[in-house]
This record gives sequence, C-alpha cells and structure tokens, in this order.
Amino acid sequence: MMARILPQALHPRLDRNQRDGLRAGGRRASLRAMFARTTPADCTILWDGAPIPARRGEPLAAALLAAGITVLRETAVGGAARGPYCMMGACFDCLVEVEGRPNVQACLVPVRDGLHARPQRGAREAAR
Ligand code: FES
Repeated sequence: MMARILPQALHPRLDRNQRDGLRAGGRRASLRAMFARTTPADCTILWDGAPIPARRGEPLAAALLAAGITVLRETAVGGAARGPYCMMGACFDCLVEVEGRPNVQACLVPVRDGLHARPQRGAREAAR
C-alpha cells in the first residue's frame, strides 16, 4: 500500500481553502490555489485588452495566475497551451508579449500599474 502525501505536507504555508483547491485536482487548480490573492490588489494591468487586478512589484505571471489565467502562450509548432511552470526564469513556458516586445518571461517581469501584455501565439523572431 502506498503512503498518501497530504497537500499540507507539500505546501505547509497554504491555508485550508488553498489546500482544498489542491485536493480538487489538476495542475491548474493547484496553481490557482498557490497564487490565490491574500492581500488586495493595488493596481490594474491589461491582459489581451482585459483589465486584471494586480499588486505592484509582483511577477506578471503571479498576477495572471491569481486571476485564473493559466495559459500564457502556445507552442510554435503544435500550438499546445503553455503556462508558468518554474516561476524562476528557467523553463520559458511563460513567454508573453509585453508592451509590444515578444519572448518576455512573465515570471520575471514586475507588475506596474497600466502594464499591458498579451499571450504569445506561434513562433516569434529571435531577439537581436
Ligand atoms: S515560469 Fe518558467 S521561465 Fe517563467
């Protein structure tokens, strides 16, 4: 019989509601639970033209995850959905277009009021 790993063992800093989100299953549910907003937003960003509440200085990827947005780009070849994974600049699954600049890692961009970004779809030209 396999030992069951409880969500609070994996994420001891989550509160009960956040752990319940993890139990609900799926990576998306766990990401939403992990990045659920515990303090009020203090600015607004635009994601693909839609206003999203955020906190100044938090990573763009965290603000989007807190808003329930888990898909930030599509792969260039197959069009598969991708979203933030490592949250530390290593996996490149969070590439977005920020203020017209493509190939930006959303987990490394600090939020500021009025920042506008959109999903990255398909292949982009490499930076020069
Ligand atoms: S989430 Fe991995 S590089 Fe941004």
